[in-house]
Amino acid sequence: MSVKYQNVVPWGRSFQEYVDMFSLTDKDLEKSILGCGDGPASFNCEMNRKGKSVVSVDPIYEQDRDSIQKRIDETYSEVLEQTMANQDKFIWKNISSVEELGSIRMNSMSQFLDDFEEGKKQGRYVSGVLPELPFADASFDLVLVSHLLFLYSEQLSFDFHVQAIDELLRVAGEVRIFPLVDLDSRKSIHLDEIIGHLVSQGYVVSEEKVNYEFQKGGNTMLRIIHS
Ligand SMILES: C[S@@+](CC[C@H](N)C(=O)[O-])C[C@H]1O[C@@H](n2cnc3c(N)ncnc32)[C@H](O)[C@@H]1O
Repeated sequence: MSVKYQNVVPWGRSFQEYVDMFSLTDKDLEKSILGCGDGPASFNCEMNRKGKSVVSVDPIYEQDRDSIQKRIDETYSEVLEQTMANQDKFIWKNISSVEELGSIRMNSMSQFLDDFEEGKKQGRYVSGVLPELPFADASFDLVLVSHLLFLYSEQLSFDFHVQAIDELLRVAGEVRIFPLVDLDSRKSIHLDEIIGHLVSQGYVVSEEKVNYEFQKGGNTMLRIIHS
């Protein structure tokens, strides 16, 4: 069976998962960071508690807290059912069961929801949608994209990926994207061609192993830097 969602689903990961997925060092955490497609992740909220700066951009931030909560509640069971039916595509080591996965994700998403209205007022949650972001050129040192590009390779075209990554490189000096596998834990069909495109434009591009693997084979990130 394959993993299928109608749309890109709101699903939230934690600060520690972001650190592991993107190999974030203490020095990285001092940078000005944009989380693109952060959705209901608790990364922004947890960074804010640590006195550090992250702006998150996502189309769902156009909605109010109750509407986001409703959308999470609607998709929560679907995501867990799909995960249950495809358990062989995941590594059940750090997270030992589908039930535990549900409660870890819900914990991150609750932290996000409690922080959302205040964070939005402070400009930490900004409504926006790739491939056009509401930020000036070079506004950030680093952009992190977790579980959007490459993961949804079937739903998001090659051209969309090119435009989205060009836009991310317009607003930041460095872009990191994780994972590089699709929903079925297969290497993204767009990856090689995207790397070729970026290298031909003069960017420094590397696929790097990280200390995080939940989807089998999903243990590398793409790092793209202006040369
Ligand atoms: C699977 S969630 C991942 C959330 C978070 N990054 C994490 O890893 O926990 C994907 C997110 O991408 C957002 N998204 C979908 N299309 C987008 C687009 N074109 N531009 C920016 N974000 C988008 C969705 O609203 C959703 O919140």
